[in-house]
Amino acid sequence: MGNPERVPFLVPTMLGSEAESVRQAIEHSPARSPRFFSERVEETLSSIHGGSPAHFVTSCTAALHLSALLLDVKPGDEVIVPSYTFVSTAVAFALEGATIVFADIDPETLCLSPESVAQLMSPRTRAVVTVHYGGVSAHLAELVSLCRTHGVDLIEDNAHGFGGAHEGRPLGTWGALSTLSFDAQKNLQCGEGGGLIVNEQRFVERAHILRDRGTNRHEFMTGAISEYTWIDRGSNFSPPDYAAAYLLPQLEVRQQIQRERATAWQRYHDALGPWAEAQGVRLPHIPEAAESTHHIYWLLFPGGEARKQFREHMDVHGVDTPPHYTSLSLSAGASSFARPTDTPRSNDVAEGLVRLPLHFGLTPMQQDRVIDAALKWVV
Ligand SMILES: Cc1ncc(COP(=O)(O)O)c(C=O)c1O
Repeated sequence: MGNPERVPFLVPTMLGSEAESVRQAIEHSPARSPRFFSERVEETLSSIHGGSPAHFVTSCTAALHLSALLLDVKPGDEVIVPSYTFVSTAVAFALEGATIVFADIDPETLCLSPESVAQLMSPRTRAVVTVHYGGVSAHLAELVSLCRTHGVDLIEDNAHGFGGAHEGRPLGTWGALSTLSFDAQKNLQCGEGGGLIVNEQRFVERAHILRDRGTNRHEFMTGAISEYTWIDRGSNFSPPDYAAAYLLPQLEVRQQIQRERATAWQRYHDALGPWAEAQGVRLPHIPEAAESTHHIYWLLFPGGEARKQFREHMDVHGVDTPPHYTSLSLSAGASSFARPTDTPRSNDVAEGLVRLPLHFGLTPMQQDRVIDAALKWVV
């Protein structure tokens, strides 16, 4: 008997119907609007976000950059972001000259800590960007009220939380703007893709202009004007319509995809509780107010050495358990683009966290292999 196949960390979500949808986009594109599928995607994204206008864009990074442009972020402004996040949350604002201020995270949910944000607010703060880590939100009402008190905008980097909710309200509708990712690792994916959700009227018109290379092309397309021209800053943020055609079938069955993830997530959670407690390993917790998208199942080890040993053990058993973010306040980029801050909890989580395989199509048999291997690791 040969070795059983490895359990990969990630297999990109694929239903099988994407190819037919892309074929339709190819066959019908000359006769239809060049954004036919993108518009269908945008209608769906908008309806999920309470009717807020939605833009299908090339990536979450691009949507964050659009947010920085919409806010008119400029040198001298500060933008507060969690230290425990992907680089895009910070770099999109640094690109427009903002100084990044890394805040620490909440120990329970690993999301931005309102206490840390409150300490870092300054007269130069222009925006706060929060991340719903693993698809779980935290303390959104506090963050909204903190931002309101200081007159700054809250942006949701909702790369993980598409379809989730907090206190019954969809993630992505709490901030002035929110951003989505449909890259290959996300619950719904088209290889590369993203979304910008515009929750405040003051940004609606300009979002079209910035996305459309700084032109009023949107008004032209809706028939409001007879020709379009250059009027503002901007760039081309639009993916090919084929990407939208790929994504659309997944959007249509998103609840089924999310349900499967929830089942797999819960299976890990039920199986690993007593073992984790005995080994001093922390498991994720979903607060009562949160409706999670179950994007990540993580384990938090007490330190880098324990994590290393666990990863080696799992590797021997054929299971991939990648770590996740580094703590950005300690990065080389931070020394150029950030105001120095202390983020001890982010640093610890970056050292101790691993992710278990979790993807659409993960079988109970594969999960059993992951669970059995984990249970064999004892300190
Ligand atoms: C929290 C967060 N924000 C932004 C991004 C960037 O997304 P994209 O690859 O679509 O630019 C990621 C990617 O994994 C992410 O995890």
